Amino acid sequence: MHVNFTDRELFIFKKIAHAAWESGLPSYLIGGFVRDKIIGRPTKDADIVCLGDGIELAHKVSERFSNPTVSYFKNFGTAHIRLPDFDVEFVGARKESYQRDSRKPEVEPGTLEDDQDRRDFTINALAISLNKDDFGTMIDPFGGLADIRNGIIRTPMEPVKTFSDDPLRMMRAIRFAAQLGFTIELQTFEAIKADADRIRIISQERVTEELNKIMLSPKPSVGWDLLFKARLLQIIFPQMVDLYGAQTIDGKGHKDNFYHTLQVLDNISTETDDLWLRWAALLHDIGKPPTKKFEEDGWTFHGHEVVGARMVPKIFTKLKLPLNEKMRYVQKLVALHLRPISLTKENITDSAIRRLLFDAGDDIEDLMKLCKADITSKNKLKVKRYLQNFELVETRLAEVEESDKIRNWQPPITGEIIMQTFGIGPGRQVGIIKDAIREAILDGDIPNSYEAAYNLMLQKAAEYNLQPIA
Ligand code: CTP
Repeated sequence: MHVNFTDRELFIFKKIAHAAWESGLPSYLIGGFVRDKIIGRPTKDADIVCLGDGIELAHKVSERFSNPTVSYFKNFGTAHIRLPDFDVEFVGARKESYQRDSRKPEVEPGTLEDDQDRRDFTINALAISLNKDDFGTMIDPFGGLADIRNGIIRTPMEPVKTFSDDPLRMMRAIRFAAQLGFTIELQTFEAIKADADRIRIISQERVTEELNKIMLSPKPSVGWDLLFKARLLQIIFPQMVDLYGAQTIDGKGHKDNFYHTLQVLDNISTETDDLWLRWAALLHDIGKPPTKKFEEDGWTFHGHEVVGARMVPKIFTKLKLPLNEKMRYVQKLVALHLRPISLTKENITDSAIRRLLFDAGDDIEDLMKLCKADITSKNKLKVKRYLQNFELVETRLAEVEESDKIRNWQPPITGEIIMQTFGIGPGRQVGIIKDAIREAILDGDIPNSYEAAYNLMLQKAAEYNLQPIA
């Protein structure tokens, strides 16, 4: 097997090889870099394992570059060299074993083979020699090359052992399957199912990092479905599992909202690489299980968008996703995801269109993407009709925006102006007057002008016996 390094990589690796030879520290490229080179994915960092002290090697290598940024992590025995366009991480080969109920590894120096043994998957255990006598030779003790060729995720050792060394690897197996389109070998998958509960000892940050990588993979449903089938989802995100299943009463069923959600997620992933729009797709129906009811005409999920939007901060908190504008964006899309559908009916007024523009603001295009992705009917004619309806809505949105400029619009009278005009402080009345002005403009009852808004303010204020002070 021959790996094609770029000229720059070859330049860097030759320098490392020289330093390694001079220091008597046999060295190897290992892990993700080797895997990605073979697959043909882009690479911008590499892991080097050496037989001896990784920190010493990094030190020797750093002397061969001008002004590299070097960080030493003595506690972990690792070092990191940051070059302008490439990162290299150094570590000494080790034998490692974890106590079953502890997160602390017991580490001792080992051979290259020991080091490959303790790695997560055969595709990540491939090494390339940087040594003088066999520079560039691939060392593949577990058939990792064949597994890459056949698209298989498999542990080098007994899967139970590999996963008990670091339970996050269960999530990594699924993440690699989603990212690379590989299949998890049966025994490996069975071990994940058996050991799923141990994911609890892993920090939420590490788990969520894997979830985000699954989210950004080409077809994220693959990862979520595997998490479900491996019974990891039941532990890390039970609200998603609540979406699973199609119940039938009196011959009336509803769709399986878990697989519907995954379909929506895949649909939107063909349209966007934005992580947060993908999260919005995943969460758009999260309020369905708690609002589900069987009524005379069948199943209803009234208010699921409101309940779902309320669940978003709780889910973000639990998953340690950021509690900032990204969360508010997801929450907004979940809350609004039914609105464009309601605008596909006949005789929709301009004011309804204006309201959606006002509520969605700059996220209107993303909302429309979500609504289109939400069409998962198998009936091609229906899909066509729904899409045409959304196109009409989009045309109306564009027309109304063109004439009224509602996106990012602020009513001409602010709370500040109201307080100054009547010499009052902040309070309920200010809110009521402000809302009345905004509503009147959105409804088209008064024009969007300062003068009209000012007059309405005076009129509303009079109802509270407020007079202008000047
Ligand atoms: N590794 C492992 N067990 C883990 C994490 C990492 O055995 N829980 C090993 C694997 O050999 C892996 C290497 O350490 O290839 C580097 O890990 P990392 O940088 O986290 O992952 P990559 O494989 O490089 O992939 P990615 O960058 O996509 O996360």
